[in-house]
Amino acid sequence: MSVLNKCLVCLCRNQGRLFPFFVTRMASLSNVAARKLEGKVAVVTGSTDGIGLAIARRLAEDGAQVVVSSRRQENVDRAVKTLTSENLDVSGMICHIGNAEQREHLLATTAERHGGIDILVQNAGVNPHVGPMLETTESQWEKVFHINVHSTFFLTKKAIPYMEARGGGSILYMASITAYVPFQLFGAYSISKTALVGLTKALAPPLAERNIRVNCLAPGIIKTKFTSFITDDDGMLHNYGLSKTPMKRFGEPSDCAGAAAFLCSDDASFITGETIVIAGGIDSRLLLGLTKALVPQLTEKNIRVNCIAPGIFKTRFANVITSNDTLHNLGLSRTPMKRFAEPSECAGAASFLCSDDASFITGETVVVAGGMDSRL
Ligand SMILES: NC(=O)c1ccc[n+]([C@@H]2O[C@H](COP(=O)([O-])OP(=O)(O)OC[C@H]3O[C@@H](n4cnc5c(N)ncnc54)[C@H](OP(=O)(O)O)[C@@H]3O)[C@@H](O)[C@H]2O)c1
Repeated sequence: MSVLNKCLVCLCRNQGRLFPFFVTRMASLSNVAARKLEGKVAVVTGSTDGIGLAIARRLAEDGAQVVVSSRRQENVDRAVKTLTSENLDVSGMICHIGNAEQREHLLATTAERHGGIDILVQNAGVNPHVGPMLETTESQWEKVFHINVHSTFFLTKKAIPYMEARGGGSILYMASITAYVPFQLFGAYSISKTALVGLTKALAPPLAERNIRVNCLAPGIIKTKFTSFITDDDGMLHNYGLSKTPMKRFGEPSDCAGAAAFLCSDDASFITGETIVIAGGIDSRLLLGLTKALVPQLTEKNIRVNCIAPGIFKTRFANVITSNDTLHNLGLSRTPMKRFAEPSECAGAASFLCSDDASFITGETVVVAGGMDSRL
C-alpha cells in the first residue's frame, strides 16, 4: 500500500488558500527505500557523532558520496570506518568549523576528489555555557556566535562557487527548537540558533538566483552526547524535558536524518528559506491553529498531525493568478525562485510528513513556496 493510501487527507481553508492537512497514524508507515541522491556529492560538518553522523549515513544510503568531518582525526577515522563497513560511499577529513583555512580545505579537497559539491549540511555547533544567561562571559558569547553563526555564513559563501559550477545545490543549517523557545540555561546558544533561522530566510533570495536552495532543521531534545546532561539525568532536567515534549520521548539522531535527506533532495525542489521543527510536538512558532491544537490528544492515540502551506502552484485553483498578467507578475515578484510550482512539487513533502522519516515531527507546518516570505 502506498504511503498516501495510508493517510487521511483533509483540506481546510485558511484566508482563501487551500492547506492540505495531514493526519498520520504513527508507526504504520514503512520507509520507502530510494536512492534519491545518486550522483550527488555531500559535505556534512560535525558528522563523526550524533545527529551529523546519522545525517551522513542517511545521505549515503540515499546514494550520495559523503564527506564526513570534525575536529579530531580519530573521530573522523572511526566514523569513516563505521560507515564504509556498511557499504556506504564515505570518506572523511578534519575540519574545525571555526578555522577558515580548514573550512576552505574541506571544500577544495572534496571538489578535487569527487568532481564538485552539490550538498552542504552545516551541522557543527557548540554551546560553551549552560547556566543563567546573565552569567555568560564575553569569550563564551564570542565562541558560540563564531562557531554557530559566523563560520556557517562564511562556509556558505565559499561553497557557492562549487555549487554554481554544478548548476545549483542544496544547503542545510542546523538550528534548534531553542531558536523559537529559548531554554533559560542555553541563553546565548538559543539566540545563535535564532540567527541561523534568520540566515536561512535572508539567504534564500540571493541563493535562489544561483539555483541553490537553503533550508534548516530545528531539533528538539535528541539523545546525543550534547544533551546527555538532560537525557541521562535521573531527575529534574530529564522530567522537565519530557514534560515539554507531547510525544513523551526524546528523539534519536536518526529522527533528524530523514528530514535532512528530504530537504536536500529534489522532493523539496520548491522549498527554500524554510526551517522544519523536529521536536516531538514541542511548542514553536504559531501556537494556534488546528494542527497545533490537535497535537496533545492525537499524540495519545499515536497519531501525528502536520500541515503543508503551499505558495503558488500551477493548478486550476491558482488560475486567477497565473492567467492574469498583473497578478502573475506580482506572484512571481513575491517568489524568490521566480517561478510557480508544479503540483508534483507538493507531493514529496506530503510523502515525507506521512512517512516514518518524520516520526518525531508533529504539530508542524512545512511551507512549500519557493522562498516566499512567511513566518520566521
Ligand atoms: N542533541 C540535541 O538535542 C540537539 C538539539 C537541537 C540542535 N542540536 C544541534 O545539532 C548539532 C549536532 O549536535 P549533536 O547533538 O549531534 O552533538 P554531538 O553528538 O556532541 O556531536 C557533535 C559532532 O560535532 C563535532 N564538532 C563539535 N565541535 C565542532 C567544531 N567546532 N567543528 C567541527 N566539528 C565539531 C564533534 O566531533 P569532534 O569532537 O571530533 O569535533 C561531533 O562529531 C549541533 O549544531 C547542535 O546545536 C542538537
